[in-house]
Amino acid sequence: MYGSPNDQHLDPEIAANYDERHAERFAPGVLTPMVDTLADLAGDRPALELAVGTGRVALALAGRGVEVHGIDFSEPMLAELRAKPDADQVAITFGDMSAATCETRPPGDFGLAYLVYNTIGNVTSQDGQVACFVNAARHLGPDGRFVIEVLVPELASVPPGETRYIFGQDEKYLGFDDYDDPVNQTFTSNHWHMGDTPRIVRGRFRFVWPSELDLMAKLAGMELESRWADWDQSPFTSQSRSHVSVWRKI
Ligand SMILES: C[S@@+](CC[C@H](N)C(=O)[O-])C[C@H]1O[C@@H](n2cnc3c(N)ncnc32)[C@H](O)[C@@H]1O
Repeated sequence: MYGSPNDQHLDPEIAANYDERHAERFAPGVLTPMVDTLADLAGDRPALELAVGTGRVALALAGRGVEVHGIDFSEPMLAELRAKPDADQVAITFGDMSAATCETRPPGDFGLAYLVYNTIGNVTSQDGQVACFVNAARHLGPDGRFVIEVLVPELASVPPGETRYIFGQDEKYLGFDDYDDPVNQTFTSNHWHMGDTPRIVRGRFRFVWPSELDLMAKLAGMELESRWADWDQSPFTSQSRSHVSVWRKI
């Protein structure tokens, strides 16, 4: 297992409040273009979400008539998913997407595997990230697609000689990344909430460039098919701050 044992989603309090704290990610304006693209890529074959969490995307995709399976290694997150009224629309497997034992119903059976919301970064080693690609590819049938949604590393925004990138601030919130380990490509992301119920949420992640992801895909027997800046399929450019990439199994 290569996932961080300190992943914040293993905490029942974080899991119980996930949907509320990420409410903006459930908005139709966010979910609809995403699910449109994923449903299109799945076609009439089943889809597998790596790191399914509380089912934000999986349930919406299942609502489009796609057969959806999901894997996650957080029991508290899966418990939140199982408690939802339409949970039976998603087949759930407890497992680590970066482990050799990451299996769900017949490998080679899926038209689509996907890993969204920057979660490739929750796997904090290069070997572990490669293992996610290998696991995705193993689950895909011929011409199956693997999709990742992730931010472009913000290293260019860090002043020379410093490690800190402030990505959000107002009178009640400070969000910043500390790029303190450029060798292993790991950083700490910090959210300081200073409103009525102050709390600090902190996580360790691995940043990864699009070109390195393409190399991981090659190692797993896949090739780049599309790279967009977002789920509206806007062109990816040198100014893009995020990307949605699609690799095809060859
Ligand atoms: C930010 S949440 C995303 C959940 C869901 N995909 C979404 O978009 O709302 C990250 C999820 O990744 C899961 N996760 C992180 N590392 C994992 C691993 N190595 N194997 C399986 N799940 C993992 C966490 O438990 C958590 O549920």
